[in-house]
Amino acid sequence: MEAKLLKYTKSIAYEESGKFEETRFEKKHNVIFSNSSEGSLKVAKEIADLIISKKAKGEQCILGLATGSSPIKVYEELVRMHQEEGLSFSNVVTFNLDEYYPMTKDNIQSYYYFMHEHLFNLVDILPENIHVPDGTVTADELHQYCIDYEKAIDESGGIDLQLLGIGRTGHIGFNEPGSHFNSETRSIILDYITKVDAAPSFLGIENVPKKAITMGIKTVRKAKRIILLAWGQNKSSIIKNTIEGEISSKVPATYLQHHNNTTFILDIEAASELTRINTPWLVGPCVWDEKLSSKAIIWLCQKTGKSILKLIDEDYNDNGMSSLLVEQGSSYDLNIKMFNKVQRTITGWPGGKPNADDSSRPERANPINKRVLIFSPHPDDDVISMGGTFDRLVSQGHEVHIAYQTSGNIAVSDYEALKFAEVSKNMKCSKDDSFISGIINQIKTKKDNAVDSVEVRKLKGVIRQMESLAATRYLGVPDENVHFLNLPFYETGSIKKNPLCDEDIAIMCDIIEQIKPHQIYAAGDLADPHGTHRVSLNALFDALKILKPKPFMDDCWLWLYRGAWQEWDIHEIEMVVPMSPDQVLKKRKAIFFHQSQKDGVMFQGNDIREFWMRAEDRNTKTAEKYNNLGLADYAAMEAFVRWHY
Ligand code: F6R
Repeated sequence: MEAKLLKYTKSIAYEESGKFEETRFEKKHNVIFSNSSEGSLKVAKEIADLIISKKAKGEQCILGLATGSSPIKVYEELVRMHQEEGLSFSNVVTFNLDEYYPMTKDNIQSYYYFMHEHLFNLVDILPENIHVPDGTVTADELHQYCIDYEKAIDESGGIDLQLLGIGRTGHIGFNEPGSHFNSETRSIILDYITKVDAAPSFLGIENVPKKAITMGIKTVRKAKRIILLAWGQNKSSIIKNTIEGEISSKVPATYLQHHNNTTFILDIEAASELTRINTPWLVGPCVWDEKLSSKAIIWLCQKTGKSILKLIDEDYNDNGMSSLLVEQGSSYDLNIKMFNKVQRTITGWPGGKPNADDSSRPERANPINKRVLIFSPHPDDDVISMGGTFDRLVSQGHEVHIAYQTSGNIAVSDYEALKFAEVSKNMKCSKDDSFISGIINQIKTKKDNAVDSVEVRKLKGVIRQMESLAATRYLGVPDENVHFLNLPFYETGSIKKNPLCDEDIAIMCDIIEQIKPHQIYAAGDLADPHGTHRVSLNALFDALKILKPKPFMDDCWLWLYRGAWQEWDIHEIEMVVPMSPDQVLKKRKAIFFHQSQKDGVMFQGNDIREFWMRAEDRNTKTAEKYNNLGLADYAAMEAFVRWHY
């Protein structure tokens, strides 16, 4: 997907960006990389060069540093340079942007802890040169502490290079919306969205501190050089507002438009809403390949409020798409071609229609009865994201297998686990109930944020297994076709997961080899840089790479669905499976079996609705979008993209 998107940009070279007419909507220099690793290496190199050049002049290098997910790979690369290339931090002085308040230094959620874990403990920086706002100062001392922090920065000679991330509120540091252009280091109340984003690490929004200490906007602006990092689709909308929008305290990062030595380093997903990437026909000539013209025509329908077959030449001309008309004929021809293309994505036969001409259908007719393997990152994504399609595959006679990639145990609350443990104890099935009593005791005496014991995790995992089996039985799948992979990368007991290892990939290879599927379905959440869905997808991609040479793989197609949080854009969809109102209700019921994920789940995200509500809303909206394009009016639709591995 990254590579495909890249075609829409004329140039992504660092030096060239900003030269072209197509950047005319952009008020800030930015450089787009195809992924966060490439961008991070470039930034680490700039920081290392600065440290080295300062050292050559006998000077200290003053760095302003950020925490969060965005700078992690930059720190990893700096550590690598220290370990392998002798990069020394002996002349480096650091000032961190912010810290939660109140917060102790040994709390694993503290930024003090984060910085030591990711950088300071791994390089030769002098401890006295490290400054992280102190979350332990008393309320009485806080005001003076902030003044002193600001003074310490000034007395060091000022920040040479400030690294920033950006929050979805547009905060830099913790300068939330409403922050003043001339604000200095101070305490601040965290915005609701910021707390939502921090909630998973704190195991629930109620545990996120309400306040923080942060450098101010003025403090940041005084830096001689600023680099802001943003990765992933989650950041795309705030990045567009920050780079193309008006300067406003509502989006504090827009204040950076005033700074004349700032660069935004983005990956293609974070940049995906910039005008030149999202609608390149509005900024200059484009190369009209099939994908870009589909995207533009769907956009044109949405912009004009017309269905595909009602678009006229004038609509194309008025909206930067005249070159498409010139290249490809009249609007009439373009419209018909597009209409047929979208029409052909609709099928009630996701496993292929038996004995039918399949030349313009999304799936092959043969073999009539297919072996289908649905990968579900957590034990519920299968029904949330493709419950209707799942139901059709089973009822149309295919051999459907479900493989739950992770146990999903950390998303089961202690209350839920306690309920099952107490039910089990009260059954009094065995004289020796010390095991279950031990579990009950562990849950009851658990400290905030503590990691569950192996036994409690096991119980939570089993709860999710039983819920999954209830749902798969309801949809008519025999238990022996339901596989719980419990991939090891997930089993840390905390939000932070291990990297994928050989054992994860081996488990994935085994299940695919055992079933030899004609169709694989998987969660295609490509944009999520760290989440379980992305890691689960990577595990599948790695396994497919290994298995590709095997003959059975020639006949195996991979379809990607989207997880609970987002949907494919209409122009990307290659198969869409309609649902009748009854099928919508059946899907809802299948989701209901996942009781531990109902009524206030632990990892809610910024959408307070339950999963079944989100799924229904999304499936209904997809159907509405199809209908608005002039296609048949269905109750709901599930969408898929075919991935050629
Ligand atoms: C962290 C900080 C914040 C983060 C921002 C993005 O020190 O000041 O502004 O940079 O919230 O966080 P991530 O990188 O986790 O998306």
